[in-house]
This record gives sequence, structure tokens and C-alpha cells, in this order.
Amino acid sequence: METRITEIADGIYRLSTYVPDIAPPAGFTFNQFLVLGDEPLMFHTGLRKMFGLNRAALARILPPERLRWIAYGHFEADECGAMNEWLAVAPQATAAHGQTGCLVSLNDFSDRPPRVLADGEVIDLGGKRVRFIDTPHTPHGWDAGVLFEETTGTLLCGDLFTQLGDDRAVTDGDIVGPAIVAEDMFRYAALAPGMGRTIRSLAGLAPRTLALMHGPSFTGNGAAALRALADDYDRRITAEMAEALRPLAA
Ligand SMILES: [Fe+2]
Ligand SMILES: [Fe+2]
Repeated sequence: METRITEIADGIYRLSTYVPDIAPPAGFTFNQFLVLGDEPLMFHTGLRKMFGLNRAALARILPPERLRWIAYGHFEADECGAMNEWLAVAPQATAAHGQTGCLVSLNDFSDRPPRVLADGEVIDLGGKRVRFIDTPHTPHGWDAGVLFEETTGTLLCGDLFTQLGDDRAVTDGDIVGPAIVAEDMFRYAALAPGMGRTIRSLAGLAPRTLALMHGPSFTGNGAAALRALADDYDRRITAEMAEALRPLAA
């Protein structure tokens, strides 16, 4: 396995590892994002077992000990499994997440106390500004959230728009169709009633880049893509509710 690096927006780097054994034959990517600034931030730690690979990749851009912030979308192994490995190599680094995530998991999991971010709170990285936005149960996890980098209009959207394959690092093509295919296959979303509204509210940020954790980075009309994804989740949730309310056969 190798980790490929692509600058997806000014000063924002995608570190991508393709794993052909997951969902073959298409395979699956795991992406982390490094946001450069006076206080560099990484979004997602990557799997603990991929730490060596990811550390070597990051070192091609920045000495790992210079990391200042480590954030992620929700508590799962690919999102934050290597948190303490990163904290060990970066003595100035602090984990950062929303209130729910800190109370439920990170206060205990992290080897150093995390920074607790309120919904909408900004970390000024010096040259870049990242805003944490609570997205509970969207696409899954009580603690779920996304980061929006304001100077480049980049939404670090975690598992939203997850897709299979690894045909390109950056695209201006369709990302909604491939996300629908992956949702049909994995059924990874919580399908909470508020999901469509939560995703639609992110369209208000008018992102110019959508940084997918599992898929290419999208450049273009991010709001339109988010609204289309929200519409698809509304459709799924409506269908699931109709099924759930159907009387059981005697
Ligand atoms: Fe996830
Ligand atoms: Fe993920």
C-alpha cells in the first residue's frame, strides 16, 4: 500500500491510501487532510494500523512534530484510531472535537485533554480558519461533525458522499450518484429523520471544495451536491418510515 498526496485547495493536502481488498473489485480509499497554517491541523488520524504509512506520508509535507491540532468527524477507527500515536509524535498537538464527542469518548480516549468545540466554533490556524459544525447522526454517530475551512471554502465532510474506487484524486464530476451506490451497498447512514435537513444546512456554507474521506475531492458547486444528497436521504428515510409503520403480517 502507498499513500498518495494531492493539494486539493490552497494549503490543504489529501493523503490517500487505497485498499483494494475492501469492497473489491472497486476497492476503497481512506483519506486524511492536512490544513497548513501557523498551527497545522490534520482532519482524521487514519487507522491505527496505518499510522506508520500515514506518518511517512505526512512527513513529506511537514515534520509530524509540528502538528498542532488533530480533529475528526466521529469516533471510529479510521477517523481517530491513531489519535494517541499522533499525540505521541507531536508534543504540541491537541485533539479537538465537539461537546458530545468529548464527553462520550475523547475525554477518556485521548492521552491529553482535548479542546472542546461548541457548534460553530472556529479555530484560527493562522492563515486558515476551521469551523466545527455539529451534524449529529449524520451520516452516523451521535458525536458526528464536520469542519469548514473558511478561507478556501473547503468542507471537510468526513463520511458524507462516501464512494468506492480510486480513479481520481480530484473531480468536478458527479459525486452524488457514486454516493448513492455506496449507500445502497454499505447502508452506513443512520437514516435519522433530521439527516436531510442537516446536510441541506451545510449547503448554506456554499463550499467550493468538498473533501471526501472515502472518495475524490470535489471542486465546483458544493451546495448543489449537498442538496442532491439531502434529497436522496429524505427519499430513503421516507421509504424506511413507510416500511416501519406497515403492519406486520399476522
Ligand atoms: Fe464513519
Ligand atoms: Fe470514515
